[in-house]
Amino acid sequence: MSEIWLTNAWYVAGWDAEVDSKPLARTICGVPMLFYRKLDRGVVAMRDACPHRMLPLSLGLREGDSIRCKYHGLKLGPDGVAQEMPIRTDPVNRKVCAETYVTHERHRFVWVWVGEAALADPALIPDLWPCSSPDWAFDGGYYPVACDYRLMIDNLMDLTHETYVHTGSIGQPELMEAPIETVVENDEVLVRRWMPGIDAPPFWRGALGQEGLVDRWQICRFMLPSAVMIDVGVAPVGAGATLERHDQGVRGMVIDVMTPERATSHHYFWGMARNFQVQDPGFTARFKHQQSGVFIEDVAVLEAQQRSIAANPDLKLSAYRIDEGGVRARQAIDRAIRDSKQVQGGAA
Ligand code: FES
Ligand SMILES: [Fe+2]
Repeated sequence: MSEIWLTNAWYVAGWDAEVDSKPLARTICGVPMLFYRKLDRGVVAMRDACPHRMLPLSLGLREGDSIRCKYHGLKLGPDGVAQEMPIRTDPVNRKVCAETYVTHERHRFVWVWVGEAALADPALIPDLWPCSSPDWAFDGGYYPVACDYRLMIDNLMDLTHETYVHTGSIGQPELMEAPIETVVENDEVLVRRWMPGIDAPPFWRGALGQEGLVDRWQICRFMLPSAVMIDVGVAPVGAGATLERHDQGVRGMVIDVMTPERATSHHYFWGMARNFQVQDPGFTARFKHQQSGVFIEDVAVLEAQQRSIAANPDLKLSAYRIDEGGVRARQAIDRAIRDSKQVQGGAA
């Protein structure tokens, strides 16, 4: 099977709040890893398999910044290197070690670099700037999803699905009527929809705090290796908002980061940043709860889609015009995988 994810890339391993002193086990791009914080709050990422008999180290016991295997007591430091052997009087063999991975915290997430450590440049972390801007409020949640991470990207790059998947929550007929355009800018893919002079839906009317017609936008932005940031909002008609610049009204950024777990499962980190009522933590909590209900509707559909793909191996996915954003995103991923191979091949 050809590769379906980029290895030399940053992936979200967890929310900042999920990673603590107790080990968190999470398989990233097919590699079982454990994550924990040291006493200085720095994050350790290590292969979740004891070098001795492969018991998951995440079952082990923390000792200072080290971890001791729960089976025979091998103790490894945060660099993955043995500090004590199972029989403590045995000389320490420093060749005994578990692989460790480079991590970086940014935009409220812990990111891990799965590939070649020497290439792990924090500048390559997707620019989810609203998640860490002081002028915006941001929070969200996590779902494990039993489908190929690219099916979630397809879903997020095609918001026509809102009408049917989210009938009772955010779906609206006008979303089907507005024309969309798809633009590729370097490695980014944008799907843009501009809805001028419409009645603001209830959520946005409340956010704006006034009646009257609005211009509304939805701009889905795919970023390598697997993030989708959706710029949504409304501005009063005549305020001068455009597809390119629209800070005249209220604006939200739906944040979606998909981390492959295995070929047909992924970790889905979701949330929303907003630039209105940023000092209201109650709004943040209520909105997170509401969003969790909307996104679980996607999870149910995508897991059923994945099961159907597995049950119909003789059929192929079709792509219609609404799928262009997802198709372009997949092309960007495939291109990056090819380029990454060439860099490695050239260096060898
Ligand atoms: S399996 Fe970990 S010490 Fe034996
Ligand atoms: Fe959805």
